[in-house]
Amino acid sequence: MPLMPLRLSDGVVGLRRCSLGDRDASIAAMEESWSQLHDWLLWAQHEMDVAYFDDLIKDYDEAWANVTDWRYFTFDAADESFLGAANIYTMSDPEMVGIGYWVRSSRTGRGYATRASRILTSAAFDYLPLVQTVEIQMDVGNVASVAVARRLGFRLVSEIPKERLVPASSGRALLWRIDRDEWRDHTTARSN
Ligand SMILES: CC(C)(COP(=O)(O)OP(=O)(O)OC[C@H]1O[C@@H](n2cnc3c(N)ncnc32)[C@H](O)[C@@H]1OP(=O)(O)O)[C@@H](O)C(=O)NCCC(=O)NCCS
Repeated sequence: MPLMPLRLSDGVVGLRRCSLGDRDASIAAMEESWSQLHDWLLWAQHEMDVAYFDDLIKDYDEAWANVTDWRYFTFDAADESFLGAANIYTMSDPEMVGIGYWVRSSRTGRGYATRASRILTSAAFDYLPLVQTVEIQMDVGNVASVAVARRLGFRLVSEIPKERLVPASSGRALLWRIDRDEWRDHTTARSN
């Protein structure tokens, strides 16, 4: 499999591979957003501190090397300020990858998660030639995340039971998908 780029950008949102270099900005953004992150994200069930952050980056480095999960921090391309994170992860089906994201609470509602996910969906199809489908999963109650998938043109495929591992979980998840051909048509239509 070819390497995913270390940096990606659409001119408004930038993504750079997660590293210890972003520790301070990242922990500050996580602290500011902790109640939202704790509600929805598995890694935010553990108290955040420097040691835990460094362990996460170690896991992310291993996953990057093992070609199973590509984790990026997101930033404002204009001033490099820290926005949040987004990732692409492999799934049991080698033709499918998933996308995840979070945005710091003080910067939500401005389209940043949508932009980061659009960049990663294009990157999945551009850099991972086996991949035919990109998926976004979220809890049925995570309305902001649902809006991201819908804005990107993903199709709602199914609603499935999901173990309640985070406090806001309803026990039901939505699967949204887009295929390579659909994405090409969608991006061509956007640029016309
Ligand atoms: C979900 C999350 C990433 C969205 O980030 P964001 O940068 O605000 O997303 P965007 O601005 O690109 O899009 C948000 C959309 O959700 C909508 N939205 C936000 N809060 C909402 C709410 N409470 N009810 C309904 N819609 C809401 C926005 O209006 C927007 O959609 P629209 O432009 O079609 O109106 C952010 O809220 C977050 O980090 N949440 C905590 C972590 C998380 O849940 N991650 C996803 C796990 S699947």
